[in-house]
Amino acid sequence: MRNLLIKGGTVVNADHQRRADVLCVDGIIAAVGDASQWDIPAGTETVDAGGLYVMPGGIDPHTHMNFPFMGTTTVDDFYSGTAAALAGGTTTIIDFVIPNPQQPLMDAYHQWRGWAEKAAADYSFHVAITWWDESVRQDMGTLVQQEGINSFKHFMAYKNAIMCDDETLMNSFRRCLELGAMPTVHAENGEMVYLLQQEMLKQGITGPEAHPLSRPPEVEGEAANRAITVASIMGVPIYVVHVSCRESAEAIARARGRGQRVYGEVLAGHLVIDDSVYRHPDFGFAAAHVMSPPFRDKSHQSALWHGLQSGQLHTTATDHCTFCASQKAAGRDNFSKIPNGCGGVEERMAVIWDAGVNSGRLTPGEFVAITSANTARLFNIYPRKGCVAQGADADLVLWDPAGSKTLSASTHHSRNDFNIFEGRTVTGVPAFTISQGQLVWADGELRAREGAGRYIKRPAFGPDFSAAAAWERQRAPQAVAR
Ligand code: URP
Ligand code: ZN
Ligand code: ZN
Repeated sequence: MRNLLIKGGTVVNADHQRRADVLCVDGIIAAVGDASQWDIPAGTETVDAGGLYVMPGGIDPHTHMNFPFMGTTTVDDFYSGTAAALAGGTTTIIDFVIPNPQQPLMDAYHQWRGWAEKAAADYSFHVAITWWDESVRQDMGTLVQQEGINSFKHFMAYKNAIMCDDETLMNSFRRCLELGAMPTVHAENGEMVYLLQQEMLKQGITGPEAHPLSRPPEVEGEAANRAITVASIMGVPIYVVHVSCRESAEAIARARGRGQRVYGEVLAGHLVIDDSVYRHPDFGFAAAHVMSPPFRDKSHQSALWHGLQSGQLHTTATDHCTFCASQKAAGRDNFSKIPNGCGGVEERMAVIWDAGVNSGRLTPGEFVAITSANTARLFNIYPRKGCVAQGADADLVLWDPAGSKTLSASTHHSRNDFNIFEGRTVTGVPAFTISQGQLVWADGELRAREGAGRYIKRPAFGPDFSAAAAWERQRAPQAVAR
């Protein structure tokens, strides 16, 4: 392992930026400051970061690699997906273990751990709660206390598959509070979606244009409100994944205004792509955009940007879940059978920089907050990840704000045959990506190594939980002494 000295760049953290050199030794940041004052170990490689921003490597808190879903499996596995991530400046992903209903949680967890061994970048897991009984309750404890899981996912959609009902939501949220683990939700009312899907098909609207019609924003807003209400009653923080519309952004902002600890994630795709894609005359193009929640009318994009700018929404992700044209064709005659999911793990950082920082919506520090630091804080791996500081993991992206490229399936590193950002020219690109102190992306050359990624354990009881416990103690029901 070679040590690295990054010289002459501008270090950007979520809370400050300054000109500084960064020394990486044995995969850890050994020093940040003025290299002329340090003893540099012999054999250290120097990277000239003049004109570049030195930022924490991106953390994508929402990916699905090697995901068996809707009768097929994503084309990106943990190697190709994390290699693509590194090419885009993302050095850690948080993926999902998703047990089939009735499958023991621990079985699913070990299955996913096995698939992830080939990852080229660091990874961690949220675990989905798709059913409920005493064994699930117990396995949640084992996962938190022995395996470093500190977040559980609840799909409020995908009826007859992985959807969990309100009773499961309540049981699981209560258990999350006991364990100091963050409950997260995919907020869409699965019953309504199911009904609307049947109605579309009955009306003979069978193409991808029916996908957004069966999942209108109200369906998302209702579920977000419901999940937030359950979390409020249980006294547990909550994280809403892929907030795509004004209705759920407002539900989060309202609850936060009442003092509730609610967090929201936004996908890069939802910030810049609108629902006109579903009316494209080519089935393959339209189907390639089928994901849930769907892309929305353009007016929702401003609500998402405003949420990120105001601090009412907190993280950005991709929901990278890639299915190729032949897989999408399973829904040729019935849109509800098109495997749901789109890519983006490689493009997220550049798309958000270009549309966010270049437009003046975000400062570089705010960019760091929403692409890595906030995720690290919420999922309790800060400042090991999400921060350029002595002692942190040497996971860095050296960002060239003047570099430019045109995004395309013909040049991306995912195995997918489609890129939802096809043809978009972005200014602001990763010149170098450093993972565990090693150069893994250098001026267009990808040096990802299969199996180099590490499983990252995340401790329970992040900062939100001591606040939640104090709050609970204060409002605990009291009997009247008579
Ligand atoms: O369409 C999507 N988002 N596919 C992946 C599963 C999910 O809902 O996150
Ligand atoms: Zn989802
Ligand atoms: Zn997802």
